[in-house]
Amino acid sequence: MDTQGKASPASRNMFRSASPTTLLVHAAQLLTLRDASGDVGFRHGPQMGELGIIEDGAVLIADGKIIAVGPTDDIAKHQQARKAEEEIDCSHNVVLPGFVDSHTHPVFTTPRLVDFEKRIAGASYEEIAAAGGGILASLRGVRESSSQTLVSHIVGALSEMAELGTTTVEAKSGYGLSCEAEMKSLEAIKQASQQWPGGTVVPTLLGAHVVPSEYHDNPEEYVCIVCQEMIPAAAKHRLAEFVDVFCERGAFTLEQSQRILRAAVDHGLGVRAHVCQLTPTQLAPLMEFHPASLDHMDFVSDEDIGILAKSEVIATLLPAANYFLGLQSFPPARKLIDSGVAVAIATDYNPGTAPTPSMPFVLSVACTHMKMSPAEAITAATYNGVCALGFQRRKGSLEAGKDADIAIFDAEDYRELAYWFGVNRCCETFLNGTRWPACRVTG
Ligand code: NIG
Ligand code: FE
Repeated sequence: MDTQGKASPASRNMFRSASPTTLLVHAAQLLTLRDASGDVGFRHGPQMGELGIIEDGAVLIADGKIIAVGPTDDIAKHQQARKAEEEIDCSHNVVLPGFVDSHTHPVFTTPRLVDFEKRIAGASYEEIAAAGGGILASLRGVRESSSQTLVSHIVGALSEMAELGTTTVEAKSGYGLSCEAEMKSLEAIKQASQQWPGGTVVPTLLGAHVVPSEYHDNPEEYVCIVCQEMIPAAAKHRLAEFVDVFCERGAFTLEQSQRILRAAVDHGLGVRAHVCQLTPTQLAPLMEFHPASLDHMDFVSDEDIGILAKSEVIATLLPAANYFLGLQSFPPARKLIDSGVAVAIATDYNPGTAPTPSMPFVLSVACTHMKMSPAEAITAATYNGVCALGFQRRKGSLEAGKDADIAIFDAEDYRELAYWFGVNRCCETFLNGTRWPACRVTG
């Protein structure tokens, strides 16, 4: 896509420098995700199906921010638009806010191919974990790796994500499981985020992913290390914004999870949790910590859906994990949305259950297997995702004053974003105004 040119996937490998003032014009569909009433809360119920579409739309970008959004005829008259250094014709494109991947685990070194083959042969995720595979199988790689190796892997993942239209990523530690290796993981996330031009990374401490083998006989001691060493260290060195816990059979009990989340809140950190992925968990006891999101939700009860619907908590669904584990059932998106719960979707990028950086793939599975409409899936992957991270005033919709996080797709109808799969139709991404792949970096 050249200046004055059409956005096309074929031009993705061209190297260009970032432009201070850019005008996107004639978008076949511009999905603003703007709420007509000006509400900045999360979207739930029928609101999730409203994309604020402008046909023949335009966006003016300068200094990393959106200056103006509207019909091309109106925006072209804008004083700054006339001076734009670069104009991009998007007449065959859908333009929307960059995806917000609000749940990922990118700090690992190697794929878990033995687990993969065992599962194909019929073993379950829990059986594989009990036999020494699973999360613990990723531990050694992280503990023994240099920071630089971890940083390279994360940068590689962030690059792939940007290529697929993602501009904001929540990134968890969780494969170190000692104070030293968890801090090394969080440091690696920080360094990688600095090598992702324009991208936004939100770090989360997941020291409570599983109990490492050396504490197998004394899990309480490990919980103390999470609460008394890891959380204070992450807070002190400002390495994490959130603390997550895997509240699940074989990981951490509800009572242990409560203690960990309490320590997080006491240290001024936000909280989120993996819940109801493999078995039902009671959610009411976690609500007092005001989690930003509760994630997975496969086995959420009707009673807890009622509690969530009345709360500010986002339910983040991760259907790529169900796909990759070969499960027949998926999180109950329809029931959650129809009950009024605000739903986000994310990749869950990790080596055990979801080795994919692709939000477009997640959109596809959300529609085909969770029966979300394409519009609901787009809201869940953008605006509600950013609500799960707490900065919807800055990102998540295309509105004047917001960060210029924008994805351009080779499509003329938004439904195509969830329709095509196994192919990348994202042809350009702007991350805080920085045009990808203008600053392509290698992982
Ligand atoms: O979200 N459930 C916990 N964590 C990951 C899986 C991690 C792994 O298997 O490496 C998840 O699915
Ligand atoms: Fe996860």
